Parts: sequence; structure tokens; C-alpha cells
Amino acid sequence: MGASGFLPTRFTLASVLSACGGLGHVECGRECHGVAIKLGLDRNLYVGNALLGMYVKCESIADAVAVFKDLPEQNEVSFTSMMEGLVEGDCIDEAFDMFRLMHRVGIIDCVSLSSVLGVCSKSAVEEFLVNDGNEKGLKMHGKQIHGLVIKLGFEGDLHINNSLLDMYAKHGYMECAEMLFNSMLEVSVVSWNVMIAGYGKQYHKERAMECMERMRSCGFEPDEITYVNMLAACLKSGDVEAGLKIFNSMSLPSLTSWNAILSGYSQNEYHQEAVMLFREMQFRKVRPDRTTFAIVLSSCAVMGLLEGGKQIHAALLKAEFCTDLYVTSGLIGVYSKCGNIEAAKHIFNMVPQHDIVCWNSMLAGLSLNSLDKDALNFFQQMLGKGLPTEFSYTTVLNCCSSLTSLLQGRQVHSLVVKNGHANDAYVGTALIDMYCKCGDVDGPDSFSI
Ligand SMILES: *[C@@H]1O[C@H](CO)[C@@H](O)[C@H](O)[C@H]1NC(C)=O
Repeated sequence: MGASGFLPTRFTLASVLSACGGLGHVECGRECHGVAIKLGLDRNLYVGNALLGMYVKCESIADAVAVFKDLPEQNEVSFTSMMEGLVEGDCIDEAFDMFRLMHRVGIIDCVSLSSVLGVCSKSAVEEFLVNDGNEKGLKMHGKQIHGLVIKLGFEGDLHINNSLLDMYAKHGYMECAEMLFNSMLEVSVVSWNVMIAGYGKQYHKERAMECMERMRSCGFEPDEITYVNMLAACLKSGDVEAGLKIFNSMSLPSLTSWNAILSGYSQNEYHQEAVMLFREMQFRKVRPDRTTFAIVLSSCAVMGLLEGGKQIHAALLKAEFCTDLYVTSGLIGVYSKCGNIEAAKHIFNMVPQHDIVCWNSMLAGLSLNSLDKDALNFFQQMLGKGLPTEFSYTTVLNCCSSLTSLLQGRQVHSLVVKNGHANDAYVGTALIDMYCKCGDVDGPDSFSI
């Protein structure tokens, strides 16, 4: 368009910006921003909101804030984008500030209300400080937003009611949720699903079951999410059998459901079943994702199933997942648990860019195979990159214990203190163990947990 001599309009810019946001291409978005400035359109509300949305989607919160502040005026779209961006960036308090500001300006709408309710559900914080219009500090939480919903007359909106329901359920206020649910003139499958998920989260499998039956008797057909929530409710209560029943009643379980039952198996130590179900999955030609692989790999590792691990490795190669960090750590775990440390090293070396989980898996693998000297050398490499975590320290201290190497143990101890891990219970236990094994029961003078 540009080459043909057409100048972009605000609509052009908004479309391109939305594409940049969708792709997460912040560089391209910045270029577009430059064009907007050159054309004097960056302060146009329509383009400004598109810029804001783009930066939020690209997780460039500082840029988003700058755009927001520069806008000559902001509307509910600008505020809501900004609020969502702040939540994405874990700035929960600032997001609530934003909502408070919206309230003060008087531009709250359905979208912003359900968005702020989403924030309440997401944040574990039950109460947060929000100033009311009189600049007086006032404690306000989800319940008060409920009050606001009523005050502003948004009760007729089913979507808002569902957001409220979700907020109560996520916080575990099932009585409030039940009360609201019963007073709702109109409910949807979403409302039932929220209730089922809420009871599941509270380990109330029976209540969740009851809810699903009530749902059916009211003429609502459970959907995929109902089943997934129900499955989660059963598995959370440790009732794998009931979970399997639900799973088997699904005609075409989605990948999420497969992963849910797999993870239930693995968490309840049904490792054999997990591996068998994975085979069935392959038999039914369901394409696994990284979560599936990670779960099954951990089950193989627990059982020391080298063959299973190898099969999954082959499936991974086929699915082109083999450099995915999430599953690589699992593979390293299986191979080292089965004593095949060379294979584990090979996999570690194949990864172009390691994350700390990968490093720790490799370190643990070396330690597990009593390659304590190698583990210490490996730990040195980690130190050079400034990586070690409490898990790494614990592992390497165990290696020092096995080697009864007081000198190295002491060196690690000073690193522990220097890097502020001395208060960690696991590290502390490993330290005590190390000093005992190395025959220095008193420990150095500086030793204190
Ligand atoms: C939403 O919930 C309120 C109770 O807070 C209720 O009075 C209203 O009828 C519900 N709206 C719908 C659409 O069901």
C-alpha cells in the first residue's frame, strides 16, 4: 500500500496493529507506531487504543503505559486494555487502581466489569485496597464489585452473573456462589460448569456429581468443559475410578481430557495405567502435546521403564518435540533413572538453550547415578552461569556427602549463605546431612539455620 503511494488511515493502522498484536510481533508494531506518529495519528483515540492493544498483546507493558498516558483522552476500551495488560504483567494492584479510576470517571461497562471480576478470580488476594470517590481508604473485594454490579444495574446480564459466580467459586465461597446461582433468573451451561468446577476445587466430588445431575434434569446437556471439570473433581478427591468412568463416558475425549486423566493417574501413583493409557492414545491416533509427554515421562521415570521412555522418545522425535525444554527434562529424568546416563547427557547436549529445570534434571541424574565428581563439575558450570537454585544446592550437597568431601561441602555452604538460601529447609537438611557424613558434627561457627 505504502509503495503504491497510499497513505494509511486510522483504520489501516488499527488493522495492521491488531495483526501485529495477534502475531506478537512487537518490532513490527513499533514500526507501525512510528508511521502513526509521522502521520500525527498516534494521539487519535481509535489508533491509540489499537496501539495499546498491540503492546498489551506483545506483553510490552511499559510501552502500553506510555501510550495510555499520552492519549489526550481515554475511553472504556483504553482502560480495559490497560487493566488487562497490567494483570498479564502481574501488576494486580495497579490493575485495580485502573478500575477505581474508571469508576471515578464513570465509564464502567459490562466488559470492564467482567474483566475486573476476572482479576478478582485470578488473584488469590481476597481483599485489596481501593479508594472510593471520597479519597477515603476503603476495603473492597469481589463482594463489593458485586455490590457495584447491582448499583450500576448490570444484574440483567447473564455474562456478568457468570463472572460473579466464577469469582466466588474460584475463591472457594461456594455458599455465596450457591446463593447467587439460585437467585439467577437465567443460567447457562457456563453457570453449571462454574459450579461443578468450584465444588471440585473444594474436594466435594459428591456435590459436583449432584450438580451435574441437577444440570441434566434441568435440561442442560453437559459439554466438554462439564466433563473436564467433573473429571478434575473426581481426580482431585483421589477417586481415580470415578474419574475413569467419566472419561469413558466421553465419546470423543479432547486432549485436555486425556491429559487430565493421565495427570490424575500419575498424581495418584497409577503409573502403569498412565503408560498404558498413553499407548491407547497412540492407538486411537490422538496427538499428544508437551503436557502429555511430560506426564508420561515422569511415570516412566518413577517406574524405571527404559523401554517406555525410549518409545516416548521416538514419538517425540516424530512429533518434533525433542528440543522442547519441558519434555527434555522429562527425558533426561527417565534415562538417568534407568541408569542410562550417556543417553541423558546426549539429550542435554542436543538442546540449543537450556533452562534451569533442564540443568537441575541433569545434575540430579548425575547424582542419582553416583557420578558425584561429575555432578560437582557440572555444578561449577552452572555456577559460572549464575543458575543454581535451592534444588541444585540440595543435590550438590548430597554429592559432597557421598564423597565425604568436607572441603567441597564447606565451599558449597559458603555459597549457600552468600546466595541467601540458608533458610531453606531442604538445603538446611542437606547441609546437616553433609556435615554429619563428613564427620564434622559441630559444623563451622557461622552455621545457623
Ligand atoms: C443475575 O443475578 C441477580 C442476583 O444478583 C439476579 O437478580 C438476576 O436476575 C440475574 N440475572 C440473570 C440474567 O439471570
